[in-house]
Amino acid sequence: MAEIRSVAVVGAGQMGNGIAHVFAQAGHPVTLIDVRAEALEQARATIAGNMDRQVRKGTLSGEDRHAALERVQTSTELAGAGSADLVVEAATENPDLKFGIFRELDGIAPRHAILASNTSSISITEIAARTSRPEQVIGMHFMNPVPVMKLVEIIRGLATSAETARVVTQAAEKLGKTVAEANDYPGFVSNRILMPMINEAVFCLMEGVAEREAIDTVMKLGMNHPMGPLALADLVGLDTCLAILEVLHTGLGDPKYRPCPLLRKYVAAGKLGRKTGEGFYSYA
Ligand code: 3HC
Repeated sequence: MAEIRSVAVVGAGQMGNGIAHVFAQAGHPVTLIDVRAEALEQARATIAGNMDRQVRKGTLSGEDRHAALERVQTSTELAGAGSADLVVEAATENPDLKFGIFRELDGIAPRHAILASNTSSISITEIAARTSRPEQVIGMHFMNPVPVMKLVEIIRGLATSAETARVVTQAAEKLGKTVAEANDYPGFVSNRILMPMINEAVFCLMEGVAEREAIDTVMKLGMNHPMGPLALADLVGLDTCLAILEVLHTGLGDPKYRPCPLLRKYVAAGKLGRKTGEGFYSYA
């Protein structure tokens, strides 16, 4: 396939709305798909709000904001991906859910379409095996907040073709992103390194090594990270952090990846971070 024009994004959560935002801003017609109509409504409002922020900063004109928002259609059916050149799946980090979506998408998306997953850690090879076009399945891993972060991690599964990687790299670069390629191993590069750091910060908190503010201050001011690991965990979502750590722990079989019991406790309590208003910090 020569070039991507029409894009479908499956999942209207924080990653999905960010991905729809950047594609629409780059001129692509986008269909944002979610089974929940209220999630689609919320995503539209979030995209509009984030674009307003760009207008206030002078990085987007009011006219371009309007045109970009007009390019975003929504659908509660996967059939909305029926004319997409590229589908980016950004559903919850649940392997069975993703496998089901790809199985269905394979029957819906045009034969030439590339099916990408924004998975943070689930095997692209396993996802691709659910389709009849594994050479056109790839990992396209955006970082949160998507409109701000420059990186897209591209992951080739065992069968992903060089042509698919080329087209997806070109599409990411058109968004103004920089691509880093990783091979298909649990957590790829980004979460193989990030999640053990977050997990260790939670162990520090659980063991009373320091208070949450002190842990985050050490990493912010001592290591020049823009956010401390506990605040970053709240941004990513504690359920997502736990799901990724489970993939690392199971997939690599090394006890050093065991999720911290305190992280499990927060998730069990429904304290998932910013999205629920409370995690390690409160966002009331
Ligand atoms: N949409 C558009 N613009 C946004 C935005 C959004 N959602 N969020 C922030 N911005 C813009 C602001 O307008 C501002 O723009 P400017 O530089 O032109 O003034 C800029 O981003 C910085 O925002 P703020 O001034 O409000 O806040 P901060 O300076 O504190 O930065 C941050 C916020 C960008 C989130 C910064 O703290 C940061 O980089 N944190 C680390 C984020 C990170 O590590 N992300 C990766 C998470 S891991 C991941 O996603 C992978 C997954 O698999 C787990």
